[in-house]
Amino acid sequence: MERFSISMEEDLVAKFDRHLELRGYSNRSEAVRDLVRKALIDDEWQAGEEVVGVITLVYDHHQRQLQDKLTDIQHDRHDMIISATHVHLDHHNCLEVIIVKGEAGKVREMADLLKAARGVKSGELTAASTGRKL
Ligand code: NI
Repeated sequence: MERFSISMEEDLVAKFDRHLELRGYSNRSEAVRDLVRKALIDDEWQAGEEVVGVITLVYDHHQRQLQDKLTDIQHDRHDMIISATHVHLDHHNCLEVIIVKGEAGKVREMADLLKAARGVKSGELTAASTGRKL
């Protein structure tokens, strides 16, 4: 471990401490480490490196041909998909969680295509990392 000190305005430190309390951090160091890791993951995505993404979709089960469209988009990129889970939320709604690994731009493109499909009520891409460079 290397130690270093950080200078910060009092006001900002107070806000940071509130953030720690809110998120359940026991000390500032662990919170700073997480912020740094998040910044590094942002860099991986920015640089178009191999990343991991989690795509979460909620969509209308009754929307015609939507299921086929979502499946087609995934089959066209089958080599990127690690896992896909489908949950029938209720009579009308389906939840799909797709874990994807690949070049950042391609992961984002796939997420955009899925999110833009007509009948998708909610679409989110969570930017994660392979963890190799963290
Ligand atoms: Ni379903």
